[in-house]
Amino acid sequence: MPNIDILMKRGAEFLGCESAIMCGAMSWVSERNLVSAISNAGGFGVIACGAMTTELLDIEITETKKRTNKAFGVNLITMHPDLFDLIAVCAKHKISHVVMAGGLPPKGSLEAIKEMGAKVIAFAPALALAKKFIRSGVDALVIEGMEAGGHIGPVSTSVLAQEILPEIAEQIPIFVAGGIARGSAIAAYLEMGAAGVQLGTRFVCAHESIAHPNFKKAFIRGNARDAVASVQIDPRLPVIPVRALKNKGTEEFTAKQRDVATLLDEGKVDMKEAQLQIEHFWAGALRKAVIDGDVENGSIMAGQSVGMVKAEESVADIIAALRRETQAAIA
Ligand SMILES: Cc1cc2nc3c(=O)[nH]c(=O)nc-3n(C[C@H](O)[C@H](O)[C@H](O)COP(=O)(O)O)c2cc1C
Repeated sequence: MPNIDILMKRGAEFLGCESAIMCGAMSWVSERNLVSAISNAGGFGVIACGAMTTELLDIEITETKKRTNKAFGVNLITMHPDLFDLIAVCAKHKISHVVMAGGLPPKGSLEAIKEMGAKVIAFAPALALAKKFIRSGVDALVIEGMEAGGHIGPVSTSVLAQEILPEIAEQIPIFVAGGIARGSAIAAYLEMGAAGVQLGTRFVCAHESIAHPNFKKAFIRGNARDAVASVQIDPRLPVIPVRALKNKGTEEFTAKQRDVATLLDEGKVDMKEAQLQIEHFWAGALRKAVIDGDVENGSIMAGQSVGMVKAEESVADIIAALRRETQAAIA
C-alpha cells in the first residue's frame, strides 16, 4: 500500500525537504518567521518578495537563514522593475529555488536564475502555458486554481489538475495549489500525479505567522462564500482578479478601478502605468490589513478554504495534521 512518503518522494526530493508541502509566498505574511517555521517543520517555505527592494530582500534572506538551516525558496514577481538585481541577491545567498509569479518571465531571467544554480518554479494557469514553460526550461510548475487567495486565474483547481497532470506530470514535478486545506485533497492530487501541493490560506493563522490578530480573527470567522473574487469594471483595463474576504476595501477597489480608468480616458497614464497603479493599490491594501490590522479598509486576501481555518495553531501541528489526514485518505 503506498504511503504518503512514497507519493511525496519526487516532490520532496525536488524541494530538498521531508514533506512535499509548500507554503505559497504571501506578501507581508511569508517573511522570516513563517518561512523558517514551515521549513523547520519539514515543509517548504517561500519568502514573498512582492514589492521588496533588493536591500530588504537581502535582509529577509539573511534573517531567515538565521532561523533555519533547511531549504526555502524566494518568490519573485516577473514585472518587478529590479527583477535582475533581485535575482543577483538570491545568487549571493545561494538560494536553491526561485518561484516566478506574475506571468511570463522577461527574457534572460530564467537563464540568470539557472546560471546561479537554482531551480525555477513557475505558475502555469493553463496547459498550453505549462508546455511553453517546460520548453523554456523551468524545473517545476505550480498549477493554481481560482479557489486560491490573492491573485487568481479563471479556472478551478480540480479542472486544472485533471487537464494538466495526465499530460505533463511525468515530465517535471507539478505542485497543485488553490483550495487545499485537508489531507484528503492532498492525497487525491498526489494520486492524480502531482509531486506535491502548495497551500497559503491554511497557514495564515499559524502561531508563527506575523499577520495582525485582526487579520487572523477575520480568517477564523470567515466562510468560503465570503472569499470573493474582485470584478473588472472596465473592459479596457484588464485587471487580474484578486480573491479576498468581502469588506469596505473590496468596494474601494471598484472605486480605484474607476479612477484609473478615468486617467486612462484622459490620456494621463498609459496601460502599463494603469496596471501598475492597480497592483500598488493591492500591495498597500494588503499591508494595511496584514500589518496594521485594518480589516475594514485593507485587503484580507484569502482563499475559499478559509472556512476550514478554525483556530490558531503551530506550523508543526498544521503540517502534522495534513500529513495524518493524507495518510489516512491514502490508506
Ligand atoms: C494573503 C495572501 C497573499 C498572497 N500573496 C502572494 C504573493 O505575493 N505571491 C504569490 O505568488 N502568491 C501569493 N498568494 C498565493 C499563495 O502563494 C498560494 O498560492 C495560495 O494561497 C494557495 O491557495 P490557497 O489560498 O487556497 O491555499 C497569496 C495568498 C494569500 C492568501
